Amino acid sequence: MSGKRYLVTGASRGIGAAVVDALARRGDRVMAFGRDEAALRAVAQPHRKKVWVAVGDLRHARARDRLVGKAVDALGGLDGLVQCAGVVRYEGVGGIGEDALREQLDVNLVGPLMLAQSAVEPLSESRGAIVNVTSTLAARPAPGTAAYAATKAAMVAWTKTFAAELAPRVRVNAVAPGVVDTQMIRQVRLAPGEAMPEDPVTRIADQLEALRGLHPLGRLGDPRDVAEAVLYLLDAQWVTGSVLTVDGGLTAC
Ligand SMILES: NC(=O)c1ccc[n+]([C@@H]2O[C@H](COP(=O)([O-])OP(=O)(O)OC[C@H]3O[C@@H](n4cnc5c(N)ncnc54)[C@H](OP(=O)(O)O)[C@@H]3O)[C@@H](O)[C@H]2O)c1
Repeated sequence: MSGKRYLVTGASRGIGAAVVDALARRGDRVMAFGRDEAALRAVAQPHRKKVWVAVGDLRHARARDRLVGKAVDALGGLDGLVQCAGVVRYEGVGGIGEDALREQLDVNLVGPLMLAQSAVEPLSESRGAIVNVTSTLAARPAPGTAAYAATKAAMVAWTKTFAAELAPRVRVNAVAPGVVDTQMIRQVRLAPGEAMPEDPVTRIADQLEALRGLHPLGRLGDPRDVAEAVLYLLDAQWVTGSVLTVDGGLTAC
């Protein structure tokens, strides 16, 4: 039993939901944040009196400003912040839209950095930790992901700067997953100018198969693979400013 107190963003599904589940199972208390209240309640439901729900949009300063206080009040303090909220818009060069670029900047960069800053005070009191979920795409390019990759590379940069500035009070690390089988990757990736295929289900299945083939360990990631790495970084007392790659060998080749 760990018995610690965590705020997890992007908790309504995918990697964030797996992190909430793993923390609650080992006896921690968690504030789960996202926009989809019904999905958050479904994540919390198996963990009565362990998981609280906070609904809001990470792009909105007022929602972010209230969130840390809400978590501290509900949990009685804060030992860690895990930032899983994220969005990707697959757009190739020539088709990158400014609205999509700004949305990815807001959700993947501005929101997490500002939220981390709000959490410094309670985390300093507890000698706590921040874990940010970035991506192997921050360092290894893939077509159609220039804007997303830029936001995740920026996240790696501020993770290391926060780590240097906040040591020894707060540890700050990141996890860089390869391709993980969540809703995020189950969208059609169109080439610039390409029309939506008549059979998007088959197209997505083909995409997943091609992505699977990039991973030497022979499968896509499971959200629990990433949750395991997040829990390690929350606990690892002599690790800060690190990016832990969890990618089935993707970046080894
Ligand atoms: N799946 C992959 O292959 C992969 C690989 C590398 C890195 N990652 C990163 O891992 C993290 C989790 O991704 P995932 O695969 O679990 O994706 P996902 O299933 O699409 O989940 C994304 C989460 O982000 C939340 N979110 C999105 N926009 C938000 C906003 N404006 N305000 C608040 N919450 C918002 C969503 O919640 P609501 O819809 O309820 O708001 C959802 O809980 C992301 O940062 C992603 O970039 C994923």
